[in-house]
Amino acid sequence: MHSFKKVIVTSGPTREWIDPVRYISNASSGKMGYHIAEAFLSYQDLELIYIHGNTLDKYSSVKGATKNISVETTIQLRDAVMDEISENSLLVMAAAPADFRPIMTAEHKIKKENKGTKKGLLLELEENPDVLAQVAEYVKDQNIKNSVRVGFAAETQDLEKNAITKILKKGISVIIGNYVGLEIGFGEIDSSVIIYDAKGPQRKIGPLPKEEIAKQIVDYLMNL
Ligand code: CTP
Repeated sequence: MHSFKKVIVTSGPTREWIDPVRYISNASSGKMGYHIAEAFLSYQDLELIYIHGNTLDKYSSVKGATKNISVETTIQLRDAVMDEISENSLLVMAAAPADFRPIMTAEHKIKKENKGTKKGLLLELEENPDVLAQVAEYVKDQNIKNSVRVGFAAETQDLEKNAITKILKKGISVIIGNYVGLEIGFGEIDSSVIIYDAKGPQRKIGPLPKEEIAKQIVDYLMNL
């Protein structure tokens, strides 16, 4: 049975601005993170922190959460998560952070005619922090006890291999893996997931609506 006082759930995509009207992001809707957060509400005596990027409107706040925190960029997401990490906490990183950001955001809208003679636009990007990996380091440095971290692995190929590699690289206990592509995994349709720990696959859930998958993931985590 669990011994958590606090659960932190992150959800949705982050945005990295190129100029005042354009950004880099991804196709995450926030639906899985939202339903995971909601499923934790059925557990008593648990502080629930919902940290979300630019989700669809209906997934942008969890009624009954202790706090709903809105962030935009991956760095803001990292900082918000770091602020909430404490002893006896469970972090579920369902957010889809943008992995890269432009090295600078243009102050004004980039105009087609102002960017030199060549056709096209070359964007220089730098890598964003890996939130889970940085939290793992922080927890170790600060000697924070009973911090359990869970990630997601949305892959188009080699799910098991990528999932296990991410567990080791990000210092997490469990990863929820699923296949994604143009037709599957993102948005509203049913999906299925496989729960992995460092030893390998532990449970398959689905195909089911995300709401039901979320409930079963939460039950699994609370019975670890
Ligand atoms: N994640 C994170 N910080 C990032 C990127 C991802 O904490 N900058 C978390 C996600 O929330 C998810 C897990 O790491 O729980 C795996 O995300 P994914 O995008 O699959 O992994 P990446 O590390 O970005 O690997 P890659 O894009 O190379 O597959």
